[in-house]
Amino acid sequence: MESAACPARAAAAVDLRWLLSVAAGGLFALLLLLTISPFPFPSSSSPRFFLSPTPSSSPRTLPPLFVESTLSGPAPPSTTTSPPRFAYLISGSAGDAGMMRRCLLALYHPRNRYILHLDAEAPDADRAGLAAYVAAHPLLSKTGNVRVVEKANLVTYRGPTMVTTTLHAAAAFLWGEGRGRGADWDWFINLSASDYPLVTQDDLMHVFSKLPRDLNFIDHTSNISWKAFARAMPVIIDPALYMKTKGDLFWVPERRSLPTAFKLFTGSAWMVLSRPFVEYLIWGWDNLPRTVLMYYANFISSPEGYFHTVACNAEEFRNTTVNSDLHYISWDNPPMQHPHHLTLADWDAMLASGAPFARKFPRDDPVLDRIDAEVLARRGGADVVAPGGWCAGAGEVGNGKSNETCAAVGDAAVVRPGPGAERLQGLVSSLLSEENFRPKQCVVEEEN
Ligand SMILES: *[C@@H]1O[C@H](CO)[C@@H](O)[C@H](O)[C@H]1NC(C)=O
Ligand SMILES: *[C@@H]1O[C@H](CO)[C@@H](O)[C@H](O)[C@H]1NC(C)=O
Ligand SMILES: *[C@@H]1O[C@H](CO)[C@@H](O)[C@H](O)[C@H]1NC(C)=O
Ligand SMILES: *[C@@H]1O[C@H](CO)[C@@H](O)[C@H](O)[C@H]1NC(C)=O
Repeated sequence: MESAACPARAAAAVDLRWLLSVAAGGLFALLLLLTISPFPFPSSSSPRFFLSPTPSSSPRTLPPLFVESTLSGPAPPSTTTSPPRFAYLISGSAGDAGMMRRCLLALYHPRNRYILHLDAEAPDADRAGLAAYVAAHPLLSKTGNVRVVEKANLVTYRGPTMVTTTLHAAAAFLWGEGRGRGADWDWFINLSASDYPLVTQDDLMHVFSKLPRDLNFIDHTSNISWKAFARAMPVIIDPALYMKTKGDLFWVPERRSLPTAFKLFTGSAWMVLSRPFVEYLIWGWDNLPRTVLMYYANFISSPEGYFHTVACNAEEFRNTTVNSDLHYISWDNPPMQHPHHLTLADWDAMLASGAPFARKFPRDDPVLDRIDAEVLARRGGADVVAPGGWCAGAGEVGNGKSNETCAAVGDAAVVRPGPGAERLQGLVSSLLSEENFRPKQCVVEEEN
């Protein structure tokens, strides 16, 4: 039997080789076409996806067989030395417009990008008011880096529409001003109107300028324990995906088994995502982000799992994952559905954490005034932005004249880190230390 089978196997091998070389040639031609086609790319640097490995430097390199390996080369090390830029999504609902405005001004920096999303619960008047505020603000209107989402998404609490809203903003950031001319940012940060910064943007830029630009900060674990039964097995439907008006999530009577095609991870819904990872999610050249998204369409609390599961199951992103959401969040003991509201009593613990963001704050709580005064040096009225090295005449910042000096943008690349940078550096160094970074990265716990 063995020997008789041999010639057939050899013939099959020849056939296969021939087929592979034809397929590879076809693929190569397709890739060449792609590189010269006028299809709009999201950024000036993105042709790297289509050219790596660089054909000119190694002319004898065979075209790769699988499209993914060509498209998903690791992000090139950043060659720029200018401070990184952040793309912020700030979301809220009915009654949040005021807090959202304040959060925006506290996070403001002319180099960053901002998208404000008030979901469909909020009346159109709130969205219009917010847009009018941005248009009338002397600084925000001049720099033009704040966008208010006009066509609000219907968002159901704990439903997949929370994830699609985040992906909507991510896609808009990649798309930029239109036809893919945008994406001049390095990290995407998802915040809510009840979040507030604990460092200045200069602090954040200073610390992040020293980090590899492909790091993703995602708090995660594969120990889904009780969530396996309560979250992963129930099948839910979010009517906001297809209805014009809001309805509650509903449960399908059948339960499903845990996935075997990928490993589930879960964690905090707040995260700081690198641009390469956001491109991977939105472009979906590898099908994983798309299939996992469709899986999570019927998953309760999908914002606490989708990004975590994709990052930890994608070979090329697993190694970039830092196990933290960079937020200070204080849970009651035992934990309730929502974290407890932060007040002045939390001041010391909050700052000692080194986290750049905290939540959640009650509207106009005195603790926010203290952050404005002592951390952000944001003084001079409700409409002033937090000052930074970018302010024209920035030498005067801190002498109480910040509203005049920051009415114009001087050199936006000037960064003046303060004590917040030291706190944040402490946290980041600990997260990236030998005992934390790799050992806590996408660890698959034993089933119990
Ligand atoms: C993003 O931020 C919002 C806060 O409004 C939050 O509810 C949501 O779960 C976050 N995460 C994701 C992945 O959408
Ligand atoms: C998983 O989490 C549960 C509850 O949080 C805990 O009791 C259990 O020890 C954890 N298992 C592992 C392997 O860490
Ligand atoms: C990720 O890290 C592991 C262990 O250090 C290494 O074997 C693997 O090649 C890395 N993967 C990528 C895509 O860099
Ligand atoms: C800042 O501007 C407001 C008006 O917008 C003004 O009332 C206030 O006095 C100014 N503050 C300083 C310190 O000049």
